[in-house]
Amino acid sequence: MALLEVADLRAGYGSVPVLHGVTMSVEEGSNAVLLGLNGAGKSTTLMALAGLLPVAGGEIRYDGRPLTGPPAARVRDGIVLVPEGRHVFPALTVRQNLRLGAWTIRRDSRRVRRNLVDVHSIFPRLEERADQPAGTLSGGEQQMLAIGRGLMAGPRLLLIDEASLGLSPKLTEQVFEAVRLINGRGVTVLMVEQNAGVLAQADTAFVMQQGRITVTGSGAQTLEDEAVRAAYFGS
Ligand SMILES: Nc1ncnc2c1ncn2[C@@H]1O[C@H](COP(=O)(O)OP(=O)(O)O)[C@@H](O)[C@H]1O
Ligand SMILES: [Mg+2]
Repeated sequence: MALLEVADLRAGYGSVPVLHGVTMSVEEGSNAVLLGLNGAGKSTTLMALAGLLPVAGGEIRYDGRPLTGPPAARVRDGIVLVPEGRHVFPALTVRQNLRLGAWTIRRDSRRVRRNLVDVHSIFPRLEERADQPAGTLSGGEQQMLAIGRGLMAGPRLLLIDEASLGLSPKLTEQVFEAVRLINGRGVTVLMVEQNAGVLAQADTAFVMQQGRITVTGSGAQTLEDEAVRAAYFGS
């Protein structure tokens, strides 16, 4: 069953349209990738899904119902965005950053503790660095913290915006591996990437160009697509 269904979604900034009718469907439990070059409209799509940007047309359905509520209600429903650029709070400790991710469930202290244990099991480094200011972490560790903070809210659908940006190939692989682990625990994932290497682990891939989805397929199929290879691997 599809957890997320996006039909002819239109959105933009003020009077400037960016998304010109985006259609895609993400199955419950799957690992989906939205691939696109800079400026394609990937972040705009995730912002609309998270409720951070008004929808100008089309429909978003989540768990079989139209999705229209404010951002906090969407987080409570399990839609959690890990934003591009990480945006960790540098002066706060790693633990404090993680706790902020649990804001919407803060009254359920057992659930907060359980989620923290889960985050530490996926990112042991974050437990080792719990008392360290987040600003002292490396770029890769900050990305893990940003994802960990998202997990603290207990997502059902995790939206991850360009986790690999600025990371070395080795750290990129570690972050992708962590996402596989998270997906393996039952969280539906929609990753936004410019790094086509991620297609190898994607159940479904959507390629976005100028505010439209131009290719939809399995990750493996899309990796073999000639237009995709030309745009992302220069081959
Ligand atoms: N806050 C904004 N105000 C106006 N235009 C924006 C804003 N953010 C992004 N855009 C424009 O929207 C288009 C898509 O941007 P974005 O969704 O960030 O692309 P991507 O995440 O795929 O790199 C770009 O042309 C960009 O310049
Ligand atoms: Mg972006």
